[in-house]
Amino acid sequence: MALQKLVELGDAAKESEVVGYIVGESKPYRAEILAFRPLAMGEYLYMEYHGYRVLAFVANSITGSTVISRDLIDPRDVERLVKSVRVGERLFYHRGVIKILGSVENDGHKLHIPAIPPPPGTEVYKAPKTVLEMVFSPRRHGYVRIGTLLREPDIEVRVNINKVVSRHLGVLAMTGMGKSNLVALIAKRVEELGGTIVIFDYHGEYTSLRNTTLIKPVLDPLRLTLDELARLLNIPRNATRQRMVLKECLDSIDEETAKEFFNVMKRCVQGRVARYGTSAQKVLDSLTVYENFLKRILKEDSGDVIDRIVMGAINVVDLSELHLNHADAVIAHWLSRLLEARKVSVWSNGSRGFPTPLIAVIEEAHVFIPADEDTATKYSASLVAREGRKFGLGLVIVSQRPRGLDPTILSQLGNLAILRIVHPEDQAYISKYCEPVMQDVMEELPGLNIGEAILLGEWVPIPAATRIDLVSEKVSGMDIDAVGIWSRYGKKELDLQVS
Ligand SMILES: Nc1ncnc2c1ncn2[C@@H]1O[C@H](COP(=O)(O)OP(=O)(O)O)[C@@H](O)[C@H]1O
Ligand SMILES: [Mg+2]
Repeated sequence: MALQKLVELGDAAKESEVVGYIVGESKPYRAEILAFRPLAMGEYLYMEYHGYRVLAFVANSITGSTVISRDLIDPRDVERLVKSVRVGERLFYHRGVIKILGSVENDGHKLHIPAIPPPPGTEVYKAPKTVLEMVFSPRRHGYVRIGTLLREPDIEVRVNINKVVSRHLGVLAMTGMGKSNLVALIAKRVEELGGTIVIFDYHGEYTSLRNTTLIKPVLDPLRLTLDELARLLNIPRNATRQRMVLKECLDSIDEETAKEFFNVMKRCVQGRVARYGTSAQKVLDSLTVYENFLKRILKEDSGDVIDRIVMGAINVVDLSELHLNHADAVIAHWLSRLLEARKVSVWSNGSRGFPTPLIAVIEEAHVFIPADEDTATKYSASLVAREGRKFGLGLVIVSQRPRGLDPTILSQLGNLAILRIVHPEDQAYISKYCEPVMQDVMEELPGLNIGEAILLGEWVPIPAATRIDLVSEKVSGMDIDAVGIWSRYGKKELDLQVS
């Protein structure tokens, strides 16, 4: 952008209200402000110093009084003080910690933190709409709207979906704060762009979106890897001989005999008892014990999961009726197949494999990618987190219990949407492991309401305090109305008699 335009922007800022002044000690990325009015968390401010035109963000806001101090011991003194204040006299002070986000250069695409801190006495203005628009509402390729600025409702927040594919996304917040709504919104936007997204839907809440394909959570037993099958049969990693039996029998199955997977496998394993002894017997027992359980997700002839994806649509893999272990196996298999299919596509220049980049969403991620347990999904998700970037497979991880998430995967998320979080341990965990976070902001997360999020990372030019758009057609993961349901059963007559 021409220098002239920047000068105009600066002038626009100065015409807007002076909010306060920089005081005390400042750093290049953090300063304190003494303000004329209370500051709102998430509000954007503007300053000029040493030739920089800087945007800042209110990370922390405090109002206090030295007159009505906490040393007072009689509430009547407070009454007298409040009554005796003359018009225009100041009883309160308003302070805030501001986070310096960067100086606005070029077209607002990238903001750099200035090398020098703002000197005390620097005037601080409300950020002019033109600057905010330039930064948060880029009309460029790949950007989509997901809401508006929390404190400036007429400024759109547009995010870079390419970055979600290449650097993954974590959606973290307490239950009921709007995580799934944000996922639904991202899914809609991806679909509008002609993109493909696969959501592992553990609560059956995404089917009401337009243009969804519902996918049954069945896997073809012949397409499972040895590891996947061994895990489903609860055969330990170090049980080498049992694995050997399983492998031999798995290899011996062909398309013809596959129609009766369990019978053929059992017959084959039985035939190896003489050679492998108790090892084969154990495998046989596992097959017998788990047969009925596994038949819910293993269906002969169901083919490759990749062939069930509809391109340019929201693909919802319905896990709502599955046991956790089943769901884990299904997600894990899908993720490793997705990654494989993308690799094949990249290596074959699109002639084989899955032809376009895509995004996979894991809800309840603390269950499937836990910190302290070894699940099948954790293994394949970490591969995707590490390698997905190169092959165009983005991972979206959704959780209401961030402190239960695997730290290695958390640390590879290049983008975050953090909604309301109250638990201090969750906040501490996120600041420890998530690269894009800002410490000051974590403390303010309890102050957010439903649908309000801080967006961090590469999909936004600078942290964006955002009110996320509501996706009205999504059925909500609402709480059950127990009282309503009770009232429809039995008690009605009694109610009548009583009243
Ligand atoms: N951006 C939003 N704006 C307004 N209301 C919202 C928003 N996001 C969620 N809600 C409300 O909160 C409810 C719970 O949202 P949901 O996305 O299911 O939360 P979570 O997945 O975090 O448990 C929704 O049914 C909706 O009524
Ligand atoms: Mg949810």
